[in-house]
Amino acid sequence: MTHEVRAVVARKQGAPVSVETILVPEPGPGEALVQVRACGVCHTDLHYREGGINDAFPFLLGHEAAGFVESVGDGVTDVAPGDFVILNWRAVCGSCRACRRGRPWYCFATRNATQPMTLLDGTALSPALGIGAFAEKTLVASGQCTKVDRTAPAAAAGLLGCGVMAGFGAAVNTGGVGRGDSVAVIGCGGVGIAAIAGAKVAGAARIIAVDIDERKLAKAERFGATDTVDSSRTDPVEAVRSLTGGFGADVVVEAVGRPETYQQAFYARDLAGTVVLVGVPIPEMKLELPLADVFGRGGALKSSWYGDCLPSRDFPALIDLYLQGRFDLGAFVSEEIGLDEVESAFDAMRRGDVLRSVVTL
Ligand code: APR
Ligand code: ZN
Ligand code: ZN
Repeated sequence: MTHEVRAVVARKQGAPVSVETILVPEPGPGEALVQVRACGVCHTDLHYREGGINDAFPFLLGHEAAGFVESVGDGVTDVAPGDFVILNWRAVCGSCRACRRGRPWYCFATRNATQPMTLLDGTALSPALGIGAFAEKTLVASGQCTKVDRTAPAAAAGLLGCGVMAGFGAAVNTGGVGRGDSVAVIGCGGVGIAAIAGAKVAGAARIIAVDIDERKLAKAERFGATDTVDSSRTDPVEAVRSLTGGFGADVVVEAVGRPETYQQAFYARDLAGTVVLVGVPIPEMKLELPLADVFGRGGALKSSWYGDCLPSRDFPALIDLYLQGRFDLGAFVSEEIGLDEVESAFDAMRRGDVLRSVVTL
């Protein structure tokens, strides 16, 4: 049986998205059909719509989602109908070199569902990040589903599927923030704020939020920043050093993706500190550094991919922290909206008004 459902489609580059009826097939071998309950609106959805990722239009947008498994295809044993799941970008193979060596986030053979979801005329849709969850139902590889505590509200839970995990994991998994550490986070959008929340959970003593927008700094304080630096007025490197006894932070998370903020991150760390780059630059950008400084500073320069997360380990653990009141995942949800409000949510995102708009179904 094919399922007819409502979904948000980007048909043409730069054009407003539309709510359309699409066709979702029954799950085949290794696939799961998911009834979506919530899906956050992420910058990446807007990048797809603007043609910034690739030109495989039409796209089925949405990729920060939670919902219930409705049915599964042959051979699926990891999830079952009725499970409450958070979706991740790609199922890992489990057997390539990266998987065998415990770095599945670099898996060489990740996969999504193989059957296409289509428009009513049969045109295949490209699901954003292999998910496509601004839809009443979506089809994914079963390995993209991670079962979590079903008492968690879906709007918050879904956010772990992308931006919040990327930021939280950048601080905790990639940066290895530990008790008593000093942490600076440059860029306090959704990703940076999640890094701040992660640093707090990990027991950081000092969390310095850096942004050029005062509104973001106020939000950062609500999520655990102990100090804020408006880098449109103050040199952030000097400010971080003076807040850390002249040394720099043990861990600096860069969550902007620009040369000047990469440079600030490089110099704001303690000599033996760790810089974690999670802000994604555009391909033309370059960073020039004196080799003497590269050599003269120890520590580590790391980039973080999807928060270096293991969905099966991290999604249930973060949901438990949330349900225990130790991590305010719910505070990332600025508003709950309908499928027909995704375009206006993009506008709110561009204005910097929201941490996350979440489509709930
Ligand atoms: N210095 C400090 N902060 C800056 C600067 C700057 N020069 N330029 C922009 N910012 C701040 C913005 O004010 C905003 O608060 O960076 C933040 C960026 O936040 P968002 O646009 O909401 O982006 P977000 O979703 O948090 O993602 C940040 O991480 O995963 C990547 O692709 C993502 O590159 C993006 C980055
Ligand atoms: Zn693999
Ligand atoms: Zn995303």
